[in-house]
Amino acid sequence: MSLPSINPTKTEAWKALENHFQEIKARQMQDIFSEDTTRAARLKIEWQDFYLDYSKNRITDETISLLLKLAEEVKLKEAINQQFSGEKINETENRAVLHSALRDFENMKPEVKATLQKMELFSKEIINGNYKGFTGKSITDIVNIGIGGSHLGPEMVTEALQFYRNHLKIHFIANIDGDDVVEKLNKLNPETTLFIIVSKSFTTQETLANASVVRDWFLKNATEKDIEKHFVAVSANEIGAKDFGISENNIFPMQDWVGGRFSLWSSVGLSICCAVGFKNFENLLKGAFEMDTHFKREEFENNIPVILALISVWYNNFFKSESEAVVAYSQYLHKLVPYLQQAVMESNGKSVDRNGEKINYQTGTIVWGSVGSNSQHAYFQLLHQGTKLIPTDFIGFSESLHGNMQNHKILMANFFAQTEALWEGTYKKTVENPFKNFEGNKPTNSILIKKLTPKTLGSLIALYEHKLFVQGIIWNIFSYDQWGVELGKTVAEDTLEAIEKGEASLVKSASTKQLVKKFLINQS
Ligand code: F6P
Repeated sequence: MSLPSINPTKTEAWKALENHFQEIKARQMQDIFSEDTTRAARLKIEWQDFYLDYSKNRITDETISLLLKLAEEVKLKEAINQQFSGEKINETENRAVLHSALRDFENMKPEVKATLQKMELFSKEIINGNYKGFTGKSITDIVNIGIGGSHLGPEMVTEALQFYRNHLKIHFIANIDGDDVVEKLNKLNPETTLFIIVSKSFTTQETLANASVVRDWFLKNATEKDIEKHFVAVSANEIGAKDFGISENNIFPMQDWVGGRFSLWSSVGLSICCAVGFKNFENLLKGAFEMDTHFKREEFENNIPVILALISVWYNNFFKSESEAVVAYSQYLHKLVPYLQQAVMESNGKSVDRNGEKINYQTGTIVWGSVGSNSQHAYFQLLHQGTKLIPTDFIGFSESLHGNMQNHKILMANFFAQTEALWEGTYKKTVENPFKNFEGNKPTNSILIKKLTPKTLGSLIALYEHKLFVQGIIWNIFSYDQWGVELGKTVAEDTLEAIEKGEASLVKSASTKQLVKKFLINQS
């Protein structure tokens, strides 16, 4: 069955929200808070080790109840069930969307179990040093060659779980930028390095080109038969991987129903598994599974991904906020935003609805941000006193992993203080100097998690996966395809042909022709 296709702007709830927005838009959070002393205690969700405070938003109980009505009218519950039951909800690619099946510990598919077992065995041998390279030495370095979903998830998680890492050094070659590849290879010893070529399609230009460069580099010191010990592949395209010269045993399969940007839970997570060991990888999956269960079963009003998605829609479509920020008060999460950018923007950057009609309302938000407290000394000025409304998610942990509480208290005091300063500002205080005035009324969500563990990280990532799905359902778009990246790939192929032939005249557009011409002249 197809996903419901309902234009959200034609629902009763949407119309009611438009009217409601007129009442709310000028209201100050400071007034709303002082009128309702129970607000902070009510607008929160406690779930496992998570505490979500969403009270610092420009919403009232009525806003939430209208947004929940919107979720009902667009048939969100039905859509969630359709996704989890494996219906082909990625209709434009005729695929099911089952990344949640990769972590479904209640009902694990045999092929998922088999792949996990293969990952467990392989990573164990690498970690304990029994796996030997072509000169009989153990592996010390692992290089993940892949881009987009075949890079961002593994890199984000291996960085986030630094505390849980073993002795292996993990590197990522993603960019086709040859200088970066050389910089990375210069630090490696072919005798002790394992390369994991990660590409769901095994057709991605950057990945295949980089993998070839790396193979040539390797063969300067080794022979063809040594490749087997140093190159493995993760792919849904077994033939493509074999054609590249990877032996069957060295291919870790992935399924068609796993989207690239949701694939870190699959064999794409092999580098994570090697970096932190299988047990930790499994706990990451378990955390995601628990969030899946929460998302599937919990009433919407207590459902973290649903509430965060609805609030985000409220700002995006009614306040017309163009972007939202995510600021994690943990250096470990410094790669979270690039990961979310692909997940959210590749999924919801769409302007045609599920009926194939051009959309006349706003869809995907721009996600940006970095880590606190660094960001306070960079772009927070604009959050506090700029002209744009930028709803921001603050993420932090109660415990410091190394127990450096002296710093941790300062870090978290800054988290809490910023969310307070943003909503409260200097409203109703006499500030003579207009440059020192803070209007406040700036919305934030606070996600306070007990401790950064593989499990809580898994839940956090799954939270954002479900949030973006809910938003896609409301906006009546297909979140799981990414046709928007294809045109650029084709144009790049034509442009490369012109460059390789040294003939700028082969380029179609006048402006690009000039650029290519200059590029060729500079090279000669
Ligand atoms: O071009 C975008 C994209 O298809 C992403 O969706 C994907 O994560 C990335 O390229 C890499 O694709 P692959 O894993 O097939 O190499």
